[in-house]
Amino acid sequence: MKIAVIGTGYVGLVSGVCFSEFGFNVICVDNDVSKIKELRSGKVPIYEPGLDKLIQKNSQAKRLIFSVDMKSSVADADIVFIAVGTPSKLDGSADLSCVYTAVDEISSCINKNAVLVIKSTVPVGTTTAIKKFLSDKGTDIDVAFNPEFLKEGAAIADFMHPDRVILGVQSKKAKKILSQVYRPLYVFNIPIVFTSPETAELSKYASNAFLAMKVTFINEIADLCESCGADVNDVALAMGLDKRIGDKFLQAGPGYGGSCFPKDTSALQNFAQKRGVNLSLVKETIKSNNNRLIRMVEKILLACDNNVKGKNISILGVTFKADTDDMRDSPSIGIINALLERGANIQIYDPSFSDQAKQIFSSLKFNDNAYDNCNEADVIIILTDWSEFRALNLQELNRRVKNPLLIDLRNIYTLPEASASGFNYYSVGRCFKKLKSIEEITTQ
Ligand code: UGA
Repeated sequence: MKIAVIGTGYVGLVSGVCFSEFGFNVICVDNDVSKIKELRSGKVPIYEPGLDKLIQKNSQAKRLIFSVDMKSSVADADIVFIAVGTPSKLDGSADLSCVYTAVDEISSCINKNAVLVIKSTVPVGTTTAIKKFLSDKGTDIDVAFNPEFLKEGAAIADFMHPDRVILGVQSKKAKKILSQVYRPLYVFNIPIVFTSPETAELSKYASNAFLAMKVTFINEIADLCESCGADVNDVALAMGLDKRIGDKFLQAGPGYGGSCFPKDTSALQNFAQKRGVNLSLVKETIKSNNNRLIRMVEKILLACDNNVKGKNISILGVTFKADTDDMRDSPSIGIINALLERGANIQIYDPSFSDQAKQIFSSLKFNDNAYDNCNEADVIIILTDWSEFRALNLQELNRRVKNPLLIDLRNIYTLPEASASGFNYYSVGRCFKKLKSIEEITTQ
């Protein structure tokens, strides 16, 4: 079986590499010449633990190749996956231009017996519309939809051991070839669900919206915890032990970010609105997550007596979550900009040494380690839950700072640990130290 994957972003690259790890012959195609050059020389354009080794192994085994030549790549493929980006348009809807450009390009060269599979996240009806688009051009091939549920930072494990595989197919032929592609997963008893493309398309959006809503729910409960003395970590633990709720995605923090939740909640909301369906919970989730940024900035300001002008702020972690260098829609962007506007001096340490972050904050100093980043700091703010921050020696940090104030927006430390460190410690949804109100600050 020969597989072609168009698009070497997160989903395309990880899928292509993992299909080759299953033993198939895979060609990954992208029109970005420098990216393909990098991949051919063994350099991985994204930060994803373990991906470099799999690329090396499968390239050496000659099962995995990279190309910029779309036409020859798809000509003898039995199955072609499209995994290009579907970013948000200004109105929140999904921009399908890259998907259609790719479909248009392959229409004249795809093998007539091949099956085309859309992996990009697309609104309901897109797979059927693509089939018609191709048919109008005289290319009558089967088109299916196969959403991807991998998370950045755990992408290989998620792909190799998914909770489920969803396949939206319209023909026996598509069902047969996709069964073959995912056969290695039957061994692990992974549920493989065949359904219509429309149901598969909506399942992807519904899953991301539900997870975004779950994160937002616990963030709002965290606010309530702060107002009444409860501990959000324990509330999440208590809730998560109920198997109907589950313990995942109940970690309170600065709000969700990344390339998927913000984009997909907006696209789902836009799609429903056009059909006159009121997805009020999705709408509120988007609104609440946007407000979360304002709330986090307020929290930091209150902890700093409403004044960060001239203060040295050490930021630990800027990527939208741990184990990635991805800055797309990271909560850190809005928070840091708000502090800069108020005159703070900011230094950053992020374990991914993200180039994206260095571009976004080009005027700020990036340090090589957390300790140096905290020298002479008036405030330390943890924005990303990188594991290495859990093992920081807080006493050593305390010795280095000018003022022992630690704001942990990811609840990395236990309250006893924080208490022993000698820091004034503020976290999310836990009242170890109550923040002063703005009235208390102004009457001081
Ligand atoms: C998300 C989904 O989890 C994947 O299943 C999906 O395939 C992917 O989008 C996609 O559509 O491509 P990802 O964006 O990589 O994956 O990141 P998540 O781990 O889901 O985190 C999203 C955001 O929620 C991050 O900002 C993270 O910090 C935040 N989050 C997550 C919390 O604040 N608390 C939690 O408990 C979990």
